[in-house]
Amino acid sequence: MSLVSMFKGKGPSGFGYGSTAEDVTEGLDLSGKTILLTGCNSGIGKETLRVLVKRGAHVIAAARTLDKAQAACDEVGGETTPVACELSEPTSVQACVAVVKALGHPLSAIICNAGIMALPKLHLQHGYELQFFTNHIGHFLLVTSLLDQLADDGRVVMVSSDAHKGAPKEGIQFDNLDCHRGYSPWANYGQSKLANHLFAKALAKRFEGTKKTANSLHPGVIHTNLARSMNPIARVALSIGAPLVLKSIPEGAATQTYLAVHPAVAGVRGKYFADCNESYTSAHGRDDAMAEKLRETSERIVAELT
Ligand SMILES: NC(=O)c1ccc[n+]([C@@H]2O[C@H](COP(=O)([O-])OP(=O)(O)OC[C@H]3O[C@@H](n4cnc5c(N)ncnc54)[C@H](OP(=O)(O)O)[C@@H]3O)[C@@H](O)[C@H]2O)c1
Repeated sequence: MSLVSMFKGKGPSGFGYGSTAEDVTEGLDLSGKTILLTGCNSGIGKETLRVLVKRGAHVIAAARTLDKAQAACDEVGGETTPVACELSEPTSVQACVAVVKALGHPLSAIICNAGIMALPKLHLQHGYELQFFTNHIGHFLLVTSLLDQLADDGRVVMVSSDAHKGAPKEGIQFDNLDCHRGYSPWANYGQSKLANHLFAKALAKRFEGTKKTANSLHPGVIHTNLARSMNPIARVALSIGAPLVLKSIPEGAATQTYLAVHPAVAGVRGKYFADCNESYTSAHGRDDAMAEKLRETSERIVAELT
C-alpha cells in the first residue's frame, strides 16, 4: 500500500485510490471467462494477469514476443494462453488476431494495457509517430479485428492516462501524425492517450443498443518500466519517492481490472475512470466529432497498411 492511499477515501463504487486489483475482484469467480490482455509481461499488466488468473479467468496474454508472454504466464500459473503481439507491427497484430480467432472463445473483455511513454526523440513507424502508432493504431487494429469475437456482454477497456490532458492544444493533430511540424515527448504521449480514450468513446457509441461496453481509464501514477525513457536522474528520484507518493503496482492494476470484470459496471459505456470511479477528461475527451474523425483516420491508416 502506498502512503498516499492512507489519506485518500473511497468513491461511490466503494473502491478508491488505495484499492488493489485483488480488492476489486474479491469474491468474484471468473471461471469460464476468457480475457485478452496486452502488455502482460510488465508493470500493471503483469499484476492484472496475475489477479485475473487467480480469480479463475482464462487469460490470452499478449506481449511483444511469445517468449515474454510465455515467461509471464509461467510465473502466474493458472489458465493462460501466451501470444505474441508487437503492436507497432500490423503483421504481428494480425497474427495475434489469427491465434485468438483460432482459439474461438468469446472474449469477455479485451484490456488494451500495453504502452510506451515519452520517447525522448521522434521515432516513426510506417510513417507515423511511434507512440501514436503503438498505443493507439496497434490497439485499434487488434480490437476492431476481434469485435466479432467479443461476447454479447463483452467489455473493451482502454488504458489511457491523465496525461491525455497534456495532448496538443488542438487535440489529435490529424495533419501532423508524422510530426513534420514538430515533436514533443509528453504532448505526443498525451495525444496517444487521448486517442485511447476517444477510441473507447467511439466504440461505446457503436455498442449502443447492445450489452457490450467500452471505457477508458487512468490507472494512477505508478513506478514501472514505463519510465524507462525518462532521464536517469528523474528515474532515480521516482524510485526513491515511489513508495511515498505513487500508487503501488497492485493499486495501479485495480481500475482496469474493475472495468474488465466487476458487475457494477455492466452496461456502463463511454466513460473515463480513475481510482475505480468515474472521472473527468479534458474537453477534447468529450469531443464526439474528434472521436469520429479519429475512427475514420485510424481505419484509413489500417487499410493502407494491411
Ligand atoms: N505507470 C504509470 O504511471 C501510468 C500512468 C498512466 C497510464 N499508464 C498506462 O498504463 C499502461 C501500462 O503501463 P505500465 O506502467 O505497466 O508500463 P510497463 O511496465 O512499461 O508495461 C508496458 C507494457 O507494454 C508493452 N509494450 C510496449 N511497447 C509495446 C509494443 N510495441 N507492442 C506490444 N507491447 C508493447 C511492454 O512490453 P515490453 O516489456 O516488452 O517493453 C510492457 O509489457 C500503459 O498503457 C501506460 O500508458 C501508466
